[in-house]
This record gives sequence, structure tokens and C-alpha cells, in this order.
Amino acid sequence: MVQSYSKNANHNMRRPVVKEEVVRYMRTHQKQNDGFLAELEAFAKKENIPVIPRETVAYFRFLMQTLQPKKILEIGTAIGFSALLMADNAPQAQITTIDRNEEMIGFAKDNFAKYDSRHQITLVEGDAVDMLQTLDETYDFVFMDSAKSKYIVFLPEILEKLEVGGVVVMDDIFQGGDIARPIEEVRRGQRTIYRGLQRLFDATLDNPGLTATLVPLGDGLLMLRKNAEHIDLGS
Ligand SMILES: C[S@@+](CC[C@H](N)C(=O)[O-])C[C@H]1O[C@@H](n2cnc3c(N)ncnc32)[C@H](O)[C@@H]1O
Repeated sequence: MVQSYSKNANHNMRRPVVKEEVVRYMRTHQKQNDGFLAELEAFAKKENIPVIPRETVAYFRFLMQTLQPKKILEIGTAIGFSALLMADNAPQAQITTIDRNEEMIGFAKDNFAKYDSRHQITLVEGDAVDMLQTLDETYDFVFMDSAKSKYIVFLPEILEKLEVGGVVVMDDIFQGGDIARPIEEVRRGQRTIYRGLQRLFDATLDNPGLTATLVPLGDGLLMLRKNAEHIDLGS
């Protein structure tokens, strides 16, 4: 097993937020990953590396083909599975993807060298806290799939870099359903994430500058559309 992920890495993925049989149905009845994406999915499963699950893959395929974004930013590359999926389904897109984990960076480099046939993907190595400041471009689609407690920390900078009309997708926002419970019922080790996610929801779900939607795929997606040049996220 690779060094970086403990046996609990997929803890929340084992607590589905919709009925288990519905999850199974979505995973088995929608188009399957094929070619190199199937290989990478199998590798991630074997090594217990979290990548977006099949129902989210199906949704991303649809989103990419429909929106056809031109400039994508991803935080959380891991082995490069979601970046390659986006590249495959949005052939005009240039994708910048950030990761700080050396082991993952090694896998991602190998996979991009082999499978990024149109040279769409640029890997930025380092912590997004530092790396975001070094990017001076704008984006029309941002996928955040990193430490959940940091989404609210990264969001102001992300929104500045997002074009009006652009979309942000954040993954794993339901904490296996904990988010709907009072904090006392949440495991102590999960409470920082819980608080970060509650701040994120407070700042976005009813924000007049954004259109927000919660989508119960995988452990949940928060999707935002930026509707105005300046977005006030409150304190
Ligand atoms: C869930 S995995 C990403 C999976 C990938 N998006 C996919 O579906 O194929 C999360 C990744 O985010 C990275 N990460 C977490 N916090 C980060 C940060 N602050 N800056 C950069 N990378 C970060 C981790 O190293 C890990 O590889």
C-alpha cells in the first residue's frame, strides 16, 4: 500500500448519504470507466487512494461535455484520475492541477506523461495555500477535492480567479451525513472539518452573488456559480 493513505481514508465513502442499493445501481448502470481510466480506477482501489466514485465520474462526464470549460483549476490531483477524466471530456480545456503530496505527484507525473495525449494538463507541486497565489490566470471551472476544512480558506482566492458565470465544484462535503447532525454527535477528530464545512455553507448557500446547489453524489458535492464580479463571503 502507498504511504499516504490510512485504512480510514475512505471512511466517509463507506457511509453513503443515499441508500446503498441506489449507490450500487448508479455505479453499475451508468457508463463504466474504460481504457486508462479503468486502469487508474483499479489502481486507486487497490492502493486505497481516494478518487471520485463512478457516479461522480458520470456526472463530470456530463458536465464537461455540456459546459466545455476552457480553463480548469483543480486542487487535489492524487494520481491524476479526475484531471485526466476532465481532459478526456473537455478536449479544448487547459487544466492546472495542484497537489502537495510527493508520492501522489510521482504517480500523477507518470500518468500524465502516458495519458495526457493532448498536453492539456499542468501539474503544480506544493500546498495550495502557497501555490494559489502564484497563479495569475482566470478559470471558468474549478474542482476542489482536497482537505475539506480548507475549502472555506481557499474560496475567496478561488472566487477572485473565477470568471463571472464560472462554476466551482467541491467534493466530499457531507462528511458521511455528519454535517446534518449537531456537533456533539460528531467524532472529536472530525470536528475541525465539520466547523469548516458549516462556515462554508453559511458563506455560500444563501449568498446573493452565488447560485449554490448541494448534490448528493459520492459524499456530496457543493456547486457554486459565480454571478457577480465581487462576491462578499461575510466575515
Ligand atoms: C481525494 S484526493 C484527490 C483525488 C482526485 N481529485 C481524483 O478524484 O482523482 C485529495 C488530494 O488532495 C491533496 N491535497 C490535500 N490538501 C492539499 C493542499 N492543501 N494543497 C495541495 N494538495 C492537497 C492530497 O495530497 C491528495 O492527493
